Amino acid sequence: MCGIIGYVGKSTKAITKTISCLEKLEYRGYDSAGIAYINNNQIIIKKERGRIEALKKELDFNTNSNLAIAHTRWATHGDANNINAHPHQVGHVTLVHNGIIENYLELKDMLEKLGYTFKSETDTEIGCAMIDYLYQKNNNHLKALNELTKILKGSYALGIIFDDDINTLYAIRKDSPLIVGINKDEFFIASDIPAILEYTNKYITLEDNDIAMINNEVKIYHHLKEVKKDIQSFDYEYVNQDKGKYEHFMLKEINEQPAIIYNLLNENLDNNLKDLPDLTHYKRIDIVGCGSAYHTALVAKTLFEEYASIEINCYIASEYRYQRNFYTDKSIVIFISQSGETADTLACLRKVKDHNIPTLAIVNAYGSSIAREADQVIYTKAGSEIAVATTKAYTAQVTILSLLALKCAYKKKIITSLDDIKESCHQIKDITNKLIKNTDYLKIAKKIYKKRDIFFIGRLIDYATALEGSLKLKEISYINSATYPAGELKHGTISLVEKDTPVITILTYDAIKDKTISNIKEVKTRGARVIIISNQELDSQLYDDLIIIPKVNIFIQPILTIIPLQLLAYHVAKLNKCDIDKPRNLAKSVTVE
Ligand code: F6R
Repeated sequence: MCGIIGYVGKSTKAITKTISCLEKLEYRGYDSAGIAYINNNQIIIKKERGRIEALKKELDFNTNSNLAIAHTRWATHGDANNINAHPHQVGHVTLVHNGIIENYLELKDMLEKLGYTFKSETDTEIGCAMIDYLYQKNNNHLKALNELTKILKGSYALGIIFDDDINTLYAIRKDSPLIVGINKDEFFIASDIPAILEYTNKYITLEDNDIAMINNEVKIYHHLKEVKKDIQSFDYEYVNQDKGKYEHFMLKEINEQPAIIYNLLNENLDNNLKDLPDLTHYKRIDIVGCGSAYHTALVAKTLFEEYASIEINCYIASEYRYQRNFYTDKSIVIFISQSGETADTLACLRKVKDHNIPTLAIVNAYGSSIAREADQVIYTKAGSEIAVATTKAYTAQVTILSLLALKCAYKKKIITSLDDIKESCHQIKDITNKLIKNTDYLKIAKKIYKKRDIFFIGRLIDYATALEGSLKLKEISYINSATYPAGELKHGTISLVEKDTPVITILTYDAIKDKTISNIKEVKTRGARVIIISNQELDSQLYDDLIIIPKVNIFIQPILTIIPLQLLAYHVAKLNKCDIDKPRNLAKSVTVE
C-alpha cells in the first residue's frame, strides 16, 4: 500500500533523507514513486512509474533542500503511470496521500463547477484541489485543513506543502497510519516507525483528525485547538532489511522460523503460561483477521474446540465489520495482524470497542494502531517481515494461539501436566531446522511448477493449514489453486481432477486420518498427482510424493505443517521466475479497505 515520508529540518539533505526513508517502505508494495522538494524557494516535483530506483535516477542528491515529501503509490484509482503518481499539485497545494477518498466523485463534480480541471484519474488530485479551494476560502492553512476533515469521507494520511508557506510541512490523518518523527533540528512524517529509525526512534502518533504543523517545531491541532502529545520512544529491534546470505527475504524469513518458534514456546512454557491471558472466563470468543491471519484463527479453532472444549468463531475482518455481530456479557474478540495496520481489522477493533467488548490483539509490529488500541496485546516477536507473503509472522501467530488454547486446556484440567510438551519444545529448533533443510522441496516443485491448477485438501486443522499453503502458492507463483475440506471435493469440484492434476493433501490429524485417506484414493483413481504432507509413513500406493514432517504434540503440529508448503510455494515461484518478495498487485500493509 502507499507509503508516505516527509522531512523538514536544518539539514539541506532533505532529498537524501526522504528517499532513504522511502526505501524502507518499499516492502509495503507499490508501483510508482515520487517526491516534491523545496529548492531555491521553488517546489520541484519528480515522479516515476516503477521502482524507487527509477526515481533516484531523476534526482540530483547534491541539490540543497530543507523540506520534502515523498510517496510510493499502490494504484487504486487509475493506472500506475507518471500522471497518477504522487505528489499531486493543484493551485497552492502539493501533497502525497495514502488511503481512499470515497466521496471524490461528488467533490470532483463540485470542484469542476468552480472551474478546477484535473490531469489524473486519482481521488488524491481531487483531495488536493479541495484543500486549495478551502485554503482560498479560509485564507488560513489550519482552518482549511480542519474544514477538510469534515468534508472528506474514507481514509487518508496526507503530507502537504502550501506554496506560500514552504518552510512548513503539514500532515493530517484519518484511518490511515501516520507518525511524526522527532530528531535534533529535524522532523519527519512517515507511514510507519521503522521507516525513520535510521534517523530517530522518537515519535508522536497522530490520531484521527489531528493536524500537524511542522517547521522548526511541531504543533498538533485537533479541531483547531492545540493539543500536547507525548513523545514516544521505539526501543525494539531495528528493522533488518538485509537479505544476508539468502536470495530472497521470503527464504530468509522461512529460515528464521525455528528460532522464533523456539523462543515463543519456551519463554511461555518455562513460566507455565502465566503471562498469557486466561480465556476460560469468556463464554464467546470471536477471532478476526484477514488473509493468512484469518487462517491462523481457523487453525486455533480446532485446538480450542477439540482440546480445550471452548467454542471459537472465526471471521474475515472485511465481513465482520459490516455484519451483525453477536456478543454476550462474557465475550472477547481477538484480532490477529502482522502489520497492526490492516484497515479492515482495525475497523473491526474499533467497532467492537464501541460495544465495550474486551479486545485482545496478537500483533507483530510494535506500536502499530491495532497494538495501541486493543485492551491487551500479545506481540508475536517475529521481527520485521519484509517479504509480502507472510511466513514467520504466520507461524508466530499460530504459536501464540496454540499456547492460548493450551493454557485453556491446562486451566480446565483437560491437560494435567505440561511436562511432555515442555520436553518436546526444547527440541523444536532442531526439529524445525531439519524440516527446512532435509527435504528436497525443489525436486517436488519441478514436477508441478508448470501446472495452471492445483488443489489442496485436508480436514479440520489440516484444512486450515491447506488454506494457508494454497494462499502462499497463489500469491507468489500466480498459479491458481483451490482448497477444500477433503470430504467436500466429491460434491462438485472433483470433476476438475484429471490425469496429473496436482492434489496436495495435508494429513497430520490422526482423529480423522482414515477419512482423508479415502478421499486421497478418490482423486488418485481419477489420475491426480498426489503430494502428501504427513507426520507418518503411508502406503506408497497413495501418493506420488510424500513429505514427512515430525510428529509432535497436537498444539505444536500445525506450526510445523505449514513449513513444507511455504517452501514448495517458494520453489514453484522461483522456477516460474516470479518476483517472490514483491508479488504483483500485492501490498504488505493493507491500509485501505
Ligand atoms: C498473505 C498475507 C496476507 C496478510 C493479510 C493480513 O501472505 O500476508 O494475507 O496475512 O493481508 O495482514 P496483517 O496480518 O498485517 O493484518
